[in-house]
Amino acid sequence: MALSSALLQVMMDAVRKTARPMLRDFGEVAHLQVSRKGPGDFVTAADIKAEDTLFELLMKARPGYSFLGEERGLIEGTDKTHMWIVDPIDGTTNFMHAMPHFAITVGLQRTHPDGTAEIVAAVTYNPVMNEMFWAEKGKGCYLNDSRIRLAGRKELADSLVSTGLPFIGKTGHAQAIKDIHAVGQRVAGIRRLGAASLDFAWVAAGRYDAFFERGLQRWDVAAGILLVTEAGGLVTTIEQDGDPKLGKTIVAGNPDIQAKLRKVLQGA
Ligand code: IPD
Repeated sequence: MALSSALLQVMMDAVRKTARPMLRDFGEVAHLQVSRKGPGDFVTAADIKAEDTLFELLMKARPGYSFLGEERGLIEGTDKTHMWIVDPIDGTTNFMHAMPHFAITVGLQRTHPDGTAEIVAAVTYNPVMNEMFWAEKGKGCYLNDSRIRLAGRKELADSLVSTGLPFIGKTGHAQAIKDIHAVGQRVAGIRRLGAASLDFAWVAAGRYDAFFERGLQRWDVAAGILLVTEAGGLVTTIEQDGDPKLGKTIVAGNPDIQAKLRKVLQGA
């Protein structure tokens, strides 16, 4: 049985409590209230309800922390050194289409006195599969009670790689197609399942060899960055000099595959 800290326990309890009504809504998804944030970008009543529950539970446990959520945006706390970064349903489109590939994802970011920030605890939970991916800085990465590590493949030609596409009408669509074209010619297989937090988690678990995407948000990547690095992987931007926590461009994988994939993407 893997041991987790009190803080991580708070995060896991919060996502499990959030998941219960979400699973009921998933079963009745045809009746769910849906609104459109932009072309192809939707929010359901389940997203809002889930973020409200996470906000209540996480802020009750650590009242001073800041909170950044996909639906609420930033709510600044009195403790400027800690921030919960939350996507209540990553994979909303899958959820709306009754596809069981979505997750509740929470990262905890700590800012140091020199101004640098890092993710120190991470939880990504697929409630349908009952798969809880979690990690704490320096303590490894776990799926439920089992330690997980990245796959060890070294050649792109042997690798299964995942990616995502911006919503229709958003900038970056044409580049994403170019990326898929360039990468697709060099890898064994490419997938687009529609939940970035699970793309990271599946890299951490060795199901995928790598994940890349352009145009993500901080809540899509916060937990995933720690999951992958604690499982032995590397996460950078495609250009390598930016901050991957911003999500603008992301490449994750074991150091060999990550470097090779990044090179292909830089030329795409
Ligand atoms: C989306 C998913 C998708 C990715 C999009 C994200 P959401 O998150 O993670 O895989 O390609 O860029 O916005 O909207 O379902 O929370």
